[in-house]
Amino acid sequence: MATTKIDLQNEFPQERNNIYLNHAAVSPWPQRTQKALQDFIAENVALGASRYPNWLRTESTLRAQLAEMINAPSPKDIALLKNTSEGLSVIAYGLDWQAGDNIVITNHEFPSNRIVWESLKSKGVDVRVANLDVDRSKQSPENSIIDSTDDRTRLVSISSVQYASGIALDLQAIGTHCKTHNIFFCVDAIQSIGALQFDCKAIYADAVIADGHKWMLGPEGLALFYCSPKLRDQLTLNQYGWHMIENQGDYDKQEWEVAKSSRRFECGSPNMLGIYALSASLSLLLEFGMVNVENQLRQNMQLLIDGLKTINNLDFLSPIQTDYRAGIVTVTIPGCDSLSLYNRLKKNNVICAHRGGGIRFSPHFYTPKEKILSAVDTLHELVTS
Ligand SMILES: Cc1ncc(COP(=O)(O)O)c(C=O)c1O
Repeated sequence: MATTKIDLQNEFPQERNNIYLNHAAVSPWPQRTQKALQDFIAENVALGASRYPNWLRTESTLRAQLAEMINAPSPKDIALLKNTSEGLSVIAYGLDWQAGDNIVITNHEFPSNRIVWESLKSKGVDVRVANLDVDRSKQSPENSIIDSTDDRTRLVSISSVQYASGIALDLQAIGTHCKTHNIFFCVDAIQSIGALQFDCKAIYADAVIADGHKWMLGPEGLALFYCSPKLRDQLTLNQYGWHMIENQGDYDKQEWEVAKSSRRFECGSPNMLGIYALSASLSLLLEFGMVNVENQLRQNMQLLIDGLKTINNLDFLSPIQTDYRAGIVTVTIPGCDSLSLYNRLKKNNVICAHRGGGIRFSPHFYTPKEKILSAVDTLHELVTS
């Protein structure tokens, strides 16, 4: 049951002077994650792997938590991979491409969701780049993607929230088009899972991929890879090992078959340290409730955007209408060099990022309102001084 009776200050005891508005890069961990890892480390030192069955239980808890985070049909549809790029590569090098096939991405994608598809050009696959910077009175960004598809489009791969512009697209509209035209729909959801509610069934996604170190508040190097059974069965595997077979624990048996579940994508030993950490971090989000997380994040974003609007001349590179907004807002100040402004913000303990030619702010749901206001004041002082 979702509850908001969690002491967030206690969970995030960050340095008092630090204003951390960089969750779209790498997030600080909650206190409970530190505790889970300390306990796990102490157990390893004292007992080695004598309690391995408990470790396996934590692994299956994590699969169930991740399935809940995206409303997946079953934890069996979830694989634990290293990162988003690995998940995208499993799809890119698993599908049986024919020369003349095409893939649609957008002009706002992080390199992970561009390079892997461009690498298929040697197989005769065309990468089409839909323009999201359209005149919205004439065409929606979603329709720009949809209009880029044709009868040779095998896959549409987009980020649910773009890393620099922060634009959050209507995934259901794109997924519906893909479903009716028999196109695979792949979503790089690293910038939304843990920030906003996510429903892979409602958007008809065939694949959803997200590393855990951003909005999910976990460590780097452990990613969610959801793959629908339909797509799973069409992917040729490129890595093999003991962990991915149906009878995983039967080491003496010579015959084997690939696991029916998404475990088939995990060839060897799991990243147990990462599993303990991510599971603890997700327990916080799930206990708090993703509805509440999203509401609080939206309130924080409103406060931040309202504050930024008071700064003369400031330009928003991000859409600021609520329907295209998630947890990212990127700005520039004409006449001010963004990189040097970013460095001065950092010197003043405002931790943000320099992306897309501007300064990217990304608070999370727990970020105290005073810190958001203080970051806006600091920016104000820096641009007027
Ligand atoms: C949209 C998007 N995809 C992927 C990544 C990172 O990919 P990986 O998990 O492979 O490191 C980032 C990191 O900033 C991102 O913003």
